[in-house]
Amino acid sequence: MNRKSFIKLAGIAGAGIVSNSISLLGENKKKTSKSNHSVPIVISTWNMGLGANEGAWKVLSSGGDALTAVEQGVWIPEADPKEMTVGLGGFPDREGRVTLDACVMRGDGACGAVLALENIVHPVSVARAVMEKTPHVILTGEGALQFALQQGFKKENLLTPESEKAWKDWLKKSEYKPIINIENHDTIGMLAIDQAGKLAGACTTSGMAFKMRGRIGDSPIIGAGLFVDEEVGGATATGHGEEVIRIAGSHLVVELMRHGKSPEAACKEAVDRVYKRQKHRIKDIQVGFIAVSKEGEYGAYCVHKGFSYAVKTAQKTELIPGKYLID
Ligand code: GLY
Repeated sequence: MNRKSFIKLAGIAGAGIVSNSISLLGENKKKTSKSNHSVPIVISTWNMGLGANEGAWKVLSSGGDALTAVEQGVWIPEADPKEMTVGLGGFPDREGRVTLDACVMRGDGACGAVLALENIVHPVSVARAVMEKTPHVILTGEGALQFALQQGFKKENLLTPESEKAWKDWLKKSEYKPIINIENHDTIGMLAIDQAGKLAGACTTSGMAFKMRGRIGDSPIIGAGLFVDEEVGGATATGHGEEVIRIAGSHLVVELMRHGKSPEAACKEAVDRVYKRQKHRIKDIQVGFIAVSKEGEYGAYCVHKGFSYAVKTAQKTELIPGKYLID
């Protein structure tokens, strides 16, 4: 399967694994009342997060709000046909249809999501419109598409020649064996804190490659793929959505942080829980979480080696290998 070449972690992340840090922002430096950690910051999943963070940073560094930052950040992989797990060019379901899932959440609890949306390149923006322009949180399938078209989104074919070829190759054996690692990563989940100290997150994906028609993973489910609470911080997930849903993963991470765990320790405990429940088949399961506290401390943890996450502050642009439970 053609994947865009992997950015060598060692070269970018330097020696060792970094679990948290403090950024200093010069004139934009903002201190919270609780600590010396500085914002703004944006973190996101996988190596595709590096480019996405740049998009978010344009918004954050010019004083824009965290929600717009995460929306515009994830636009980058959503519009990139080479990213075959998000947006345009995403792997289709087993019937050859590209169906997208996305959600957004602000620290004040406002949230919106679309499930199984077809023919729209930026499901994240439709999710934002659900949040801002409807009394609902989730729209799905045909209804989500109808709403998107009413809002002026353009209908486009999302199945590229490459994703169609991958599907046709898959059809030869039709074996459903989800593998999520460096070369076949999935969701982009992004968390940001803006200069005003406000938090937001976004999560967007084409879901598990060659999934059953109608299958929804964790990514658009508030509390599973994403959760943000301005009193605490935010978390987002990647990997096998079914396992993240089973433990309400992102909500769990935020609640563990509320009770005093650091972002990394909270992510680890959520991963431990996945492990405890799925020990017998853990070799086939990858799940990763990233989290940021409202003060800008961040961390991540995953089941298997191979997960990375991207961090951008005024002083650093990094791709960091996530700590893991199992080699
Ligand atoms: N984490 C993406 C999915 O399971 O669909």
